Amino acid sequence: MKKQKIFLLAFAFLTLFSCRQKNNLEEVIQIPEPEAQETQSVYGNPAEVKAEKGKFKMRGLTYAYNALEPYIDGKTMELHYSRHHLSYCNNLNKAIAGTDYEKWSLEDILKSSDPNNMEIRNNAGGYYNHNLYWEVMGPKAGGQPKDSLALAINRDFGSYDAFKAQFVEAAGKQFGSGWAWLVIDKTGKLVVGSTQNQDNPLMPDMPVKGMPILALDVWEHAYYLKYQNKRGEYISAFFNVVNWNVVEKKYLDAMKRVVKQ
Ligand SMILES: [Fe+2]
Repeated sequence: MKKQKIFLLAFAFLTLFSCRQKNNLEEVIQIPEPEAQETQSVYGNPAEVKAEKGKFKMRGLTYAYNALEPYIDGKTMELHYSRHHLSYCNNLNKAIAGTDYEKWSLEDILKSSDPNNMEIRNNAGGYYNHNLYWEVMGPKAGGQPKDSLALAINRDFGSYDAFKAQFVEAAGKQFGSGWAWLVIDKTGKLVVGSTQNQDNPLMPDMPVKGMPILALDVWEHAYYLKYQNKRGEYISAFFNVVNWNVVEKKYLDAMKRVVKQ
């Protein structure tokens, strides 16, 4: 009888141990795939978004629609690039079709086209502004500027934090749709400001004038799906995706042009 009890206890212990091992094994097997891989196929490919016809093309993005998550969500990026930006590109091509503007550079159109021609003004601005916005963002970005751009920011704003505070204020206070900017003015000084609608600092009679090197879209279509009415949270999140290497390159290129003037 005693031997039977010992045998039953040993059997129960082994069964329990075996089940625990099995459960542990199942838990290991059931580890889910990384989120980025699950969502990768949900979105389209920006390289496949093409303009209908005309001089100006869709340049694509250097990253996937969901590459800026969690700061800017993939659905917003896809709609923004493949619908809104595509419309500006197509409508700009239509607006200049058959006119002398077809021979002009985009920068010359912004600087010197008729400001009362709202089709060209809105769509040339929309096309240029969004191209800069896509370009100055990227995954694994953020942080602070370095080298010559950091020195220039310290020189013209006092510190990076002072620059950021001015930029955040300009973006937050822009009434209705528009853009916040960091530009180089004609003297080579860095200046922050904002413009309405799709206006741009290269256009005449703007509240901020100069060569843009950083742009933030504060139209609701840029953030409403994720942030709803909390524009301030979107503006803060933007600093986690700014590619300062690109911004610095733009700063150096723009400074060469200032020196030549
Ligand atoms: Fe936009």
